[in-house]
Amino acid sequence: MCGIVGYIGNQDAKEILLRGLEKLEYRGYDSAGIAIANGNGVHLYKEKGRIADLRKTVDENEAGTAGIGHTRWATHGPPSQENAHPHQSETHRFTLVHNGVIENYESLQREYLNGVHFTSDTDTEIIVQLIERFVRDGLEVEEAFRKTLSLLKGSYATALIDKENTDTIYVGKNKSPLLVGKGDDVNVIASDAMAMLQVTNEFIELMDEEIVIVTREAITIKTLTGEKIERKSYIAELDASDIEKGTYPHYMLKEIDEQPLVIRNIISKYQKENGEIKLDEDIRKAMQAADRIYIIAAGTSYHAGLVGKQLIESIAKKPVETHIASEFLYNMPLVSEKPLFIFISQSGETADSRGVLVNVKKLGYPALTITNVPGSTLSREADFTLHTYAGPEIAVASTKAYTAQMAVLAILAVDTAKARGLTLDFDPIKELSIVGTVMETLCDQKEALEKIAREYLSVTRNCFFIGRASDYYVGLEGALKLKEISYIQAEGFAGGELKHGTIALIEEGTPVIALATQKHVNLSIRGNVKEVAARGANPCIISLEGLNADNDAFVLPKVHDYLTPLVAVIPLQLISYYAALHRGCDVDKPRNLAKSVTVE
Ligand code: F6R
Repeated sequence: MCGIVGYIGNQDAKEILLRGLEKLEYRGYDSAGIAIANGNGVHLYKEKGRIADLRKTVDENEAGTAGIGHTRWATHGPPSQENAHPHQSETHRFTLVHNGVIENYESLQREYLNGVHFTSDTDTEIIVQLIERFVRDGLEVEEAFRKTLSLLKGSYATALIDKENTDTIYVGKNKSPLLVGKGDDVNVIASDAMAMLQVTNEFIELMDEEIVIVTREAITIKTLTGEKIERKSYIAELDASDIEKGTYPHYMLKEIDEQPLVIRNIISKYQKENGEIKLDEDIRKAMQAADRIYIIAAGTSYHAGLVGKQLIESIAKKPVETHIASEFLYNMPLVSEKPLFIFISQSGETADSRGVLVNVKKLGYPALTITNVPGSTLSREADFTLHTYAGPEIAVASTKAYTAQMAVLAILAVDTAKARGLTLDFDPIKELSIVGTVMETLCDQKEALEKIAREYLSVTRNCFFIGRASDYYVGLEGALKLKEISYIQAEGFAGGELKHGTIALIEEGTPVIALATQKHVNLSIRGNVKEVAARGANPCIISLEGLNADNDAFVLPKVHDYLTPLVAVIPLQLISYYAALHRGCDVDKPRNLAKSVTVE
């Protein structure tokens, strides 16, 4: 949700900031802006739309060597040039970018800023106006910055420049992610290290309620009350080529194709030389000690959590509940005596999940985060982390992170079962290798899947996904993929549930994508397909070798029962991709969405 960058060095700041914002566009892309500081003051450029639109407005002779930038996902106020960041104070002395939500901005405005003219509808503008007000009252800029941040309720990652001292960027963080990057006579800030790999790979993490005073030569971290904090830097193990599209037309397609590699990566990271599972002993103990596991996640990660419940319950025989984070936050069920909370999050920054994590830590419960970003907030704040090793996922629609999450959950389930002394007929490493190979075969069948997308989805306004057992969970994910990138109204249903209401929506030609990969429900799901076909639907059955019938639209090669979701989702990802492409949609950056949802 919104991305921010900052640069203070000796090179052309505008180009570095624009390139950084292009890398952060996945965090929001409805408007963007940069502010460049040079000897003559601060120049502001803002535009509604993408970074490419902003780029066109920036004066190519703009020569400053310091500045800040922002790409926005609107929360307060619609996307517009006025609401785009950076925002300036009334006299234009201060310029600021912000990621997050200020919950008490209206009361602060009433209390401190009567008569001040605001130029945007944003909650952000309050921050920059307050700083100016406190400086006018006699505080030094740093004091005014700290005082302002300590009055804010909500979340922020923010950066400020002062026209009267353009050799310093003031930075603050609470609940929204932010890193400071170190170089030689150059320092940077970014919501995500990827944005500033072009300058450095050495970063310092910031904790909540900290500020940083960044100059060309120094990085000084302080608390909101002004005490200095020492913190070591770390080297971000990211390869700049991981975040390039290469010859692919879209990141989504590249990331779908990377799935076999990700599975192999996971196998190598979670396997000892003797073939046994490699897992942190403390995680093993926490899994053993728990009398019930609570999986908390959002969106696609929640769908992986549903499969995770099935894996852990069937393999490790431990009771599991999977919950939507934003619901659990305000409607917490009674929990067992010795719960273990597992947070699944690609980004590790999702505010809904983090809200639950903060609450369960307050209650003293142990927490494990399964994430693709080990240094992320959810990873740092949980007791344990399992890394999904999927590599950076840039397309807004999650693909490889989802299959990686399920693979790690399968390994965790088997490890738990073994630690409990259960006898198993399932070798996760061997079965995941088969999954990797099958994924490759599926990724090679793009033509057939493009044809299915054309045949079933080119003109429809809606589409249903049905399945039973784990096919139901994969259907939910298939529907989410399709709707978020193609804007076709798509819903996933348990096969048996349709007749209880939803079947009323079936009309002549309505596409119904049915998954039939589970032996014990193969006949019943095919019965459900007959029910919808009798009412005019256009069914598209995706089945598993050995369970297939004549006229199935697509047959998946056989993998172990437990792991069918990892392969069954691939045709659905590709069908969604092609449906979106045929409809002329922006596959990697669908409307209204952002990759990392850091607001509740
Ligand atoms: C959909 C998608 C989202 C995310 C959700 C949670 O394709 O990507 O539904 O899964 O916003 O995000 P993470 O996993 O980062 O917590």
